[in-house]
Amino acid sequence: MAKSEASNYVAPIFKDRALKHLVMLAGGKKKIAGLMPDQYKKMMRARDKIAYDMQFNQLKWFRPFKYQQDFFELGKTFSRRGMIAANRAGKTIASTFEAAYHLTGEYPKDWKGKVWDRPIIAMASGESWEQVAKTLQSKLLGCDDIKQSYKLGTGSIPKTQIDEKSIRSDGANVLAIEIWHKTGGKSKLYFSNYTQQVRHLQGFELDLVLLDEQPPDETFSELVVRTAARNGQVICSFTPLKGMTGLVRKFWDQIEGYAHVRVTWDDIPFVNEWGEAFFPKEERDQLARDFMPWEREARMKGIPLIGKGVVFPLLEWPIYTGLDLRNNPALERLISFDLGQKNDPTVISFFFRDSVEDIIYLHRQVTVPSGETTDEYVHYLLDRESKGVPIALPHDAGQQGRYTLTEQSVREAFEDSYGLNVIPGAILNPPNDQGKVTNHKSYGINIMRLYMERGQLKIHESCKEFLEEARNYAIDEHGKFSDPDDHIDSARIGVLALIQGHGETQVSRANILQTRRIQPVEGKYQRI
Ligand SMILES: Nc1ncnc2c1ncn2[C@@H]1O[C@H](COP(=O)(O)OP(=O)(O)OP(=O)(O)O)[C@@H](O)[C@H]1O
Ligand SMILES: [Mg+2]
Repeated sequence: MAKSEASNYVAPIFKDRALKHLVMLAGGKKKIAGLMPDQYKKMMRARDKIAYDMQFNQLKWFRPFKYQQDFFELGKTFSRRGMIAANRAGKTIASTFEAAYHLTGEYPKDWKGKVWDRPIIAMASGESWEQVAKTLQSKLLGCDDIKQSYKLGTGSIPKTQIDEKSIRSDGANVLAIEIWHKTGGKSKLYFSNYTQQVRHLQGFELDLVLLDEQPPDETFSELVVRTAARNGQVICSFTPLKGMTGLVRKFWDQIEGYAHVRVTWDDIPFVNEWGEAFFPKEERDQLARDFMPWEREARMKGIPLIGKGVVFPLLEWPIYTGLDLRNNPALERLISFDLGQKNDPTVISFFFRDSVEDIIYLHRQVTVPSGETTDEYVHYLLDRESKGVPIALPHDAGQQGRYTLTEQSVREAFEDSYGLNVIPGAILNPPNDQGKVTNHKSYGINIMRLYMERGQLKIHESCKEFLEEARNYAIDEHGKFSDPDDHIDSARIGVLALIQGHGETQVSRANILQTRRIQPVEGKYQRI
C-alpha cells in the first residue's frame, strides 16, 4: 500500500495551510521563531490535527469567491439558479459545497442563502457516468472511484457525516449515499447522468437538484418536476458551450423564478485565501490561445456559444412602443409577405423606415391563418394607411396557383384584381462582390441581426410572435434554420426590400406615382 493510501494520510498542502493558519493565529513568523522546543512540538501536533481537519472536514474551511457567495445568496429568493460561467471558474466547487451545506445542515454563520432545517433528498447529475465520477462524485465525496475508500470524506461532505455502510455503487460510481444531518436524521444523495432515460426518474421526489454542465432541456424539465412536491430547488452550473438552449434562454431572459450569475475570468482572483497562486495569468493566456476563436466567449466569459445554436444572441431586444410613426409622412413605408402553404400561416409585415437615421421599424404583423385566400386577407392592404404602399413579395409569389385557389399567382391577384403597388420582381439579396444575386436566407438574417444589435431594426412590442420566434431561432450544424420562422421570414423580405431602396414616403409617392410604375416584361427576355 502506498503511503498516500493510509487512512490517516494528510496531503502536504493541508500541512502548509495549517501552519499558515497557526502562524496567523500566533501573530506572525517572529512569534513562532521565539518558541521553546516543547512549545514548538505542541504547535506541530496542533498543525497535524488542523491539517487533518482541513482535509476531512473541508466544509468548515471553505471560503467562497465573491461570485460564489452571490450565487448562494440568490437561493434565498430563487428556486432555479444558474451559474453560467467560464471554464475553470469554480462552478462545480460552488455547487458541491452548497449541496454539502444542505445535506449536512451545517451552514456557515454568515450564510444568507436557502436553508433547509431538516434532512434533504438531493440528486447530482452530469453528462455521463464517467464525468459524474470525475466531477460531482469526486468533489462531493472526495473519490472518483469508490474503491479508493481512503479518499472518502476529502470532498465537500465531511468524512464524519458520510454513512459508509449506506453506499450503493456500480463500478467506480456511487449511485446513492446517506449523509448524517445535524438534526440526527439522514439526508439522501443520488447520482445520475443525462444519458439515463429521463422516464427512469419518474416517481422520485427531490428537494435539491444539482446539474453540472448544460443539461438537455428534457432532462431539466423532468428533474424540475421532481422538485415540485417538496418545493425544491434546482442549481445548474455550466459553461454554455451548447449555445442558447431553452434552459439557457430562461436564465438569460430572467423569466420569473429564474436567476443566474454570469462569471468571466475577470471575476476569478489570481490568489486564493491561503495566498497561493490561483489560475495564473500565463495559464489563462495560454488557454485563450488554445481555444478555438468561436469558443472563446463561452469558455472565458460564459457567453453562450454562437455559430451553431442561437441566431439572434441579443441581450437587449430593440423593442419600442408608443411612437407616432403613422402620422409622419417623411418616413418610408413598406409591406412585406411570407406566404404560407398548408400548415403555415401567411404573415404580413408593415414597416416604417427613417432613411435619415437609417432606422427600420417593424411596426405591425398580421398573421393570416393557413388556408385563407387572397380575397380573405386583402382588406389589410386596402385600408387608408396601407393602400398604395409598396408590397415586397418573396420569390415564389409569382407561381400560379401555389398560394391561391385559382390559376392566378399571388402577384397577379394583387396587381390585376386589386391594383396594389407590388414591387416588380422578387425580393432577393443584393448583388454580392462578384455581382451575383442569391436568395440565401442567411444573408437577410445576418442583416437583421446586425441591425437589431445596433438598434437600427426596432420591433414594436405588439409583434409578439416575431419576438418569440426570434428568441428561439436556432441554426443546426448543417446550417438549417429552426421552425417556426414565418414571422421572421416575412420581416426578412421587408428588411431586404427596404435596404434596397424599395420603401416609399407619402411625399415621394405623390410626386412620382404616375411615372414610376414600370410594367414587367412578359415572356423570356435577354439583357442587353
Ligand atoms: N472558493 C474557492 N477557493 C479556492 N479555490 C477554489 C474555490 N472555488 C474553486 N476553487 C478551485 O478552482 C479550481 C476549479 O474549480 P472547478 O473544478 O469547480 O471549476 P469549474 O468551473 O467547474 O471548471 P470546469 O470548467 O473545468 O468544469 C479547482 O482547483 C478548485 O479547487
Ligand atoms: Mg466543472
